[in-house]
Amino acid sequence: MKQQLNSLRASTIGLLSQIADIKTLNDARSRILGRKGDLTGILRGLKDLPIEERSTFGQLANQIKAELEVEFDLRETRLREDLEHSQVMSESFDVTLPGRRLPLGRSHILNRVTHELLDVFSGLGFQLAEGPEVEIDYYNFEALNMPKNHPARDMQDTFYFSDNLLLRTHTSPVQIRTMETHRPPVRIVCPGKVYRRDADVTHSPMFMQIEGLWVDKDVSFADLKGILYAFTREYFGEKLGLRFRPSFFPFTEPSAEVDIQCVICGGSGCRTCSSTGWLEILGAGMIDPTLYGFVNYDPEIQSGFAFGMGIERVAMLKYGIPDIRLFYENDIRFLNQF
Ligand code: FA5
Repeated sequence: MKQQLNSLRASTIGLLSQIADIKTLNDARSRILGRKGDLTGILRGLKDLPIEERSTFGQLANQIKAELEVEFDLRETRLREDLEHSQVMSESFDVTLPGRRLPLGRSHILNRVTHELLDVFSGLGFQLAEGPEVEIDYYNFEALNMPKNHPARDMQDTFYFSDNLLLRTHTSPVQIRTMETHRPPVRIVCPGKVYRRDADVTHSPMFMQIEGLWVDKDVSFADLKGILYAFTREYFGEKLGLRFRPSFFPFTEPSAEVDIQCVICGGSGCRTCSSTGWLEILGAGMIDPTLYGFVNYDPEIQSGFAFGMGIERVAMLKYGIPDIRLFYENDIRFLNQF
């Protein structure tokens, strides 16, 4: 029996080295190690042996069985690896297949427009400034002349992390932050995201503004108009008209809201401009002297203006986009057009 078991072991190992596919391997496994296989056949002879020899041969048979199972597993792993490798090789070496084109990324249209606006304003002498999106009440409201309980806060409801910490509702806090750290003259623009409880065709709960601030001696409302007309001509061309409407902001005096002619309907009235022919793009005005008190500027010497422009509105006009929500729906068919 010992000889039978050893020769089964040797012949199986010899056979395994010649097997080249999984099916043949599985067949051989059940033929040799299966319930009705060769090894079981040999073990049947155990009952004819004297009782003291049975356990010795029984142990030997179990040991050979375990060893052969390992050999079968190793062979199977090897065959599967070879198969995978040959599949990969045959795929990667098919030189007749066309190459796979990687999709190219691009800037989001709003980032493009932001950079275009920065180009225009830097050409007009403005420097880039930045401020945080998570802002404290003091900069977003208090130092902009909107104390607690001021009614103007109602129009700018936002997400509050605590009584004192909020998502900024406009880029105007950067006016205060800049004046606090820089002596006049200051002439900055600051683009960035802002947040409000607002949503319709022209209002988004998260949107972008670009703030402009120019403080020096003898800066007047005429300078504000000059800069905004220069900007419109440069960015939209000669054709589009601007309209200044008297308005109110607690941090500017006098204040204005500025509309630009709607490019979508050419001024005749459509859904985007609420049938008025005009779209409001910015709020602006002369810095209220109260603000100078917060930043230690002398209101007798300094004067200046500020404006806050909606970047989505500008992008809608520039590229004829009828609905503000398209910017944030992440539809690749829309974004790919720019
Ligand atoms: C302000 O936010 C003032 N901080 C602007 C300002 C700056 C005035 C400096 C004076 C001096 P207003 O709420 O009007 O103002 O917003 C300014 C512009 O942001 C609007 O003209 C509009 O173009 C855009 N805007 C306002 N709300 C939304 C919104 N929900 N979605 C998209 N754009 C908006």
